[in-house]
Amino acid sequence: MAIILIGYMGSGKSSVGKQLAQSLNLAYVDLDLMISQRAGKTIQEIFAQDGEDYFRKIESECLADVCEQNSVVATGGGIILKAENRQLLSKQKFVIFLTCEDNELIHRLKADQKNIRPIIQDKTNTEILAIYQQRLPFYQVSATMQIDTTNKSIATIVNEIKEKMEKNT
Ligand code: S3P
Repeated sequence: MAIILIGYMGSGKSSVGKQLAQSLNLAYVDLDLMISQRAGKTIQEIFAQDGEDYFRKIESECLADVCEQNSVVATGGGIILKAENRQLLSKQKFVIFLTCEDNELIHRLKADQKNIRPIIQDKTNTEILAIYQQRLPFYQVSATMQIDTTNKSIATIVNEIKEKMEKNT
């Protein structure tokens, strides 16, 4: 059984995922890293050289593999775009949607410039937030739990997730 974190870019999936895995004594999987290793290049290179469709194809393959594992998985923000991925997620017991208030989301994305995200690279703040709005129903329908991360420390978020998980078991 995997514990899967979903949410928009900048919602804290990786930071929360690492600490959640540590505190549950489970392996941590970063799906973007897995995709990058499988393709033998960075996410940015995959998008530039092979295109988004190819990235999404490997992303789906990696998701199918990790769903079988006992681990905490941080997915990429676009994992909910494909119906086949949403189908896979619907079979999981813990799919945690990390939300974040718009201003903080933009602030976090601007502060994390070293992580190049092809989907929003040349977009304005308004466009970035519009993509989030378009995706919102897909996150909501795929999640078994929703956690607001705005103004919260990673430790607080991890504790909230664990409390909710205990109630749901
Ligand atoms: C994407 C989000 C990225 C990465 C890729 C596409 C998206 O992951 O998978 O650049 O479509 O939202 P993060 O959410 O970890 O930034």
